Amino acid sequence: MPVETKLLIEMSVPGRGRRDYLPESDVPETSLDEYQDLIRNKDSLILPDVAESDAIRHFEYLGSLNYSIDRGVYPLGSCTMKYNPRVNETLANLPGFTHLHPNQPMETVQGALQVMYELQRYLAEITGMYAVSLDPKAGAHGELTGILMIKKYHESRGEGAKRRKILIPDSAHGTNPATAAMADYEEVTLPSDINGNVNLDELRKLMTEKVAGIMMTLPSTLGLFDPNILEITQIVHEKGGLVYGDGANQNATMGKAKFGELGFDVVHLNLHKTFSTPHGGGGPGAGPVACKEHLAPFLPSPIVEKMDDSYLFIKPDNTIGKIGEYYGNFAMVVRAYAYIRAHGEEGLRSVSEYAVLNANYLLSLLQDDYYLKFKRRCMHEFVLSGIRQKAKNVSTMDIVKRLMDYGFHPPTVYFPQKQIVPEALMIEPTETESKDSLDAFAKALIAINKEVDENPEIVRTAPHTTQIGRPDESSASRNPDIHW
Ligand SMILES: Cc1ncc(COP(=O)(O)O)c(C=O)c1O
Repeated sequence: MPVETKLLIEMSVPGRGRRDYLPESDVPETSLDEYQDLIRNKDSLILPDVAESDAIRHFEYLGSLNYSIDRGVYPLGSCTMKYNPRVNETLANLPGFTHLHPNQPMETVQGALQVMYELQRYLAEITGMYAVSLDPKAGAHGELTGILMIKKYHESRGEGAKRRKILIPDSAHGTNPATAAMADYEEVTLPSDINGNVNLDELRKLMTEKVAGIMMTLPSTLGLFDPNILEITQIVHEKGGLVYGDGANQNATMGKAKFGELGFDVVHLNLHKTFSTPHGGGGPGAGPVACKEHLAPFLPSPIVEKMDDSYLFIKPDNTIGKIGEYYGNFAMVVRAYAYIRAHGEEGLRSVSEYAVLNANYLLSLLQDDYYLKFKRRCMHEFVLSGIRQKAKNVSTMDIVKRLMDYGFHPPTVYFPQKQIVPEALMIEPTETESKDSLDAFAKALIAINKEVDENPEIVRTAPHTTQIGRPDESSASRNPDIHW
């Protein structure tokens, strides 16, 4: 059962944190006169008076309350919480990488540049594109980079003022409309058809010469691969627009379909979704952008080139400029490089095969108990609906809270938008879950569905075994109280 957790400061006992058993320092004192402006001279720090062992136990205990991919199934749809292989960590922590300084002369960092260059080439190969920038520090940052490239492309052809709109399917990832707005475009929503694909008639109607392009999430956030993708990219190109690919879900398509061959002009990837780099509390991420040759001059600066036997940074001719300090999230680049090298071509293909197989297996276990709107095979994730349970006054939120009592992290809920799937439960098991863990997860959701009929109150009032019950979720995220 949950126990009340004290703050470290509340554990203070005067004299508990004594250090007087340490020998006197024999380092001569230095005058601090010239640092007076840096010295705190008011509001002295209130530090807890605790022993080292108290502090360690306190933080270890707090850490044990966390749930992570290393503890169990973490089925957050759209977030791809996949296992982070330890070999990635070993390589990213090699002193030759961690001791580098980004201002070092290029001839002293040739190994690091080689890793960046080769990763650029691997990502170009995987996506079927011509050139890559590793700079963007998140998927959404990659989106903004790609859309700014599209904008500059149209401007360079004298069409910037004319093309002010971006088409975004209603099954796109939520960051896509935000990106279009940040790049100062007017966002136009494209409705899905009854199968969850882009409505082609609407696309033909809306795709005019005032449109700069389309942002397509593929597979979509419904976990569906749009079989009309070639037609979609053709319709957009015929009107002079460009096709942006949200390729964050590449986990489902590696070695199977290349964005370049499907007609996309530019695409971003999420190294933390597909290439197993860690999601550390929303970061540090990496969202490289890959593009066709006609967009390469607009890539952010710098990118790595190979000349003879050396590697160097170059500035693309018509670059959109710098999109961040230095050169992206280098430690993530090393991890993704390690992942790709460890798997090889066949291995990456089988990653996608297992991601899709696991999702379809889980879907087949759950679709009798939870409503499935689009009755199709899914890709790496699928979206169920809790509408039947809602009719019995138990919401999707109640169901996933109850899932925590069964020891599982909840899936993503209420996304995509309710107009597409009400009471949505978006589940992504990833390729690294075994059949046993998929069975156990399905068993829990099926048991909860049974409880909805037999003991709905236990679901409505869940969770019952976690440290924190039901916080006010919107205040907790918008106005977190992190003070003591
Ligand atoms: C399809 C898709 N696009 C974009 C993003 C945004 O990526 P990030 O959270 O790194 O900004 C995500 C994140 O999960 C995603 O799933």
